Amino acid sequence: MSLSVIILAAGQGTRMRSALPKVLHALGGEPLLKHVIRTARQLQPATIQVVYGHGGEQVRDALVGETVEWVLQDRQLGTGHAVARAMPLISDENTVLVLYGDVPMISAETLGALVEKATTGSLAVLTAELNNPHGYGRMLRDGAGRLVGIVEQKDANPAQLAIREINSGFLAAPAAQLRNWLGRLNNGNAQGEYYLTDIVAMAATDAVAVDSVCAAHEYEILGINDRVQLAALERIYQRGQAECLMRSGTTLADPARLDVRGAVSAGIDCCIDVNVVFEGTVSLGERVIIGPNCYIKNTRIGDDVQVFANCVIEDGVIGSRSRIGPFARIRPDTVLAEQVHVGNFVEIKKSRIAAESKINHLSYIGDTHMGARVNIGAGTITCNYDGANKHLTEIGNDVFVGSDTQFIAPVTIGDGATIGAGSTITRDVPADELALSRSPQKIRSGWKRPVKKPR
Ligand code: UD1
Ligand code: MG
Repeated sequence: MSLSVIILAAGQGTRMRSALPKVLHALGGEPLLKHVIRTARQLQPATIQVVYGHGGEQVRDALVGETVEWVLQDRQLGTGHAVARAMPLISDENTVLVLYGDVPMISAETLGALVEKATTGSLAVLTAELNNPHGYGRMLRDGAGRLVGIVEQKDANPAQLAIREINSGFLAAPAAQLRNWLGRLNNGNAQGEYYLTDIVAMAATDAVAVDSVCAAHEYEILGINDRVQLAALERIYQRGQAECLMRSGTTLADPARLDVRGAVSAGIDCCIDVNVVFEGTVSLGERVIIGPNCYIKNTRIGDDVQVFANCVIEDGVIGSRSRIGPFARIRPDTVLAEQVHVGNFVEIKKSRIAAESKINHLSYIGDTHMGARVNIGAGTITCNYDGANKHLTEIGNDVFVGSDTQFIAPVTIGDGATIGAGSTITRDVPADELALSRSPQKIRSGWKRPVKKPR
C-alpha cells in the first residue's frame, strides 16, 4: 500500500493583503508551501499533489524544481472540491493524506500517526483542544465519545460553538472510501462550499471508524491567514532553530536574537552573539565565534574562525583559524584558506586568498588570486574594472604591499616582491623586486603659509 499526499494551496489568502500568493510568503526564509512539501517527503509518499488556484502560476514558478504534481483548481469551491480534483490520479489501494499549504509547522511524526491509523482502514483526523476555538470547525462526538461529524464555525449553533476540540483540517483516509465520500458531498451550507469535513459524518454513517490524532505541539496546526499570524509563527519557528543549535553544542547569547533563514549546521562549542542572521546553507566548524550583528549567507566556515561584529559574508568559504572583521564584507565567490586575517572596512569579492595572508584595514580586493603570507597595507585597492570588463590581479607568495597601493589589473606580482607605499602598479613586478611609483618628495625651504588680509 502506498501513500498519496494532497496539499491544498488554492486559497486566495485575502487577509494577507498581498500580491504574493499566501503559500509563497516566507517562514524561516522559505515559502510556507516548501516547508509542507519537505515534511511530506519525510513520509516517502508515492506522489505529492499540490492543488493550486487560478492565477497561481506564480506558485508553480516559485517552486520549480520540486518534484510534485500540480493540480489546478480554477474555482475555489471548497476543501472537498479541492481534494476531489486530485483524486483521479490516485489508485483505490492507496492511503491519502491531506495537508494544507498554509499550515507549515506540522511534523512528520504527527503525520505518521495519522497515516498509520488510515492504513488500518480508519478515517483519521488531526484535532486539538484550544482555549480559543474561534474560526475552526468543531468536532462532534456522540454519547460514547465516537466522532460523528464536524461543524464549521459559520454553521454551528451556540452549543456547538462552545466545543473546544477543533479540526486542524489534516486528515488521512483509505483512497477508495475517500473517493466514495467525496462523490456524495454537497454544498448546502452557510458558505455554499463543498466541505471536506462532511466526510466525517459519512464515515460514521457507513460505520467506518473515525479516529482522532492530537498534535504533539499546538504550533503544528497553526495556519497562516494574515501577517500577524505569520510573524507569530516565525518566532516559534526561530525558537525551534535556536534550540536545535543549542542542543547540538552551540552557545547563543540570546536565542531570541538569532534568525535562521535556511539551514545552519555547527560543530561543537561555537558561540553566536546577538542579532545574527544566517541565510541559505551555512555550516560552521568547531569553536567558531560569531560576533554581534553579522549576516552570513551560503557560507562554509572552518574550525576556530572568529568573525567579529558587523560582518557581511555571502557565498564564501572561510578557512580554519581565520579572523574576519569587525566591519568586513566578504562578497560571493571568495575562498579564504587557513589563518587569513581580514580586518575592518575590507571588501573582498571573487578572490582566492592563500594561507596566513593579512588584509587588515580599509581595502578592496576583487578578482584576485593571492598567495600565502602576503601582507596588504591599509587602503590597498585592486582596480579590477575598466568600465567594460573585469581583470585579474595575481599576487604571489610572501609579497609585501605598502599602504595606499592601487593595482591596475590585469597585473601580476611575483613571489617575494615588495610594493612601496602609495604606488600605482600598472605593470607586472618580478619576484623579489621592489616596485615604487610615487613621485619624489620636495622640500621648499623658507616657504610661508598665506595669512588672512587685514579688513
Ligand atoms: C478548514 C476546515 C475547518 C478547519 C480549518 C483549519 C473545511 C470545510 N473546513 O476551514 O474545519 O478547522 O480549515 O484551518 O475544510 N483550499 C483550496 N481550495 C478551496 C478551498 C480551500 O485549496 O476551494 C485550501 C486553502 O488554500 C487552505 C485550506 O484549503 O490552505 C483550507 O481552506 P480554508 O478556506 O482556509 O478553510 P477554513 O474555512 O479555514
Ligand atoms: Mg483557513
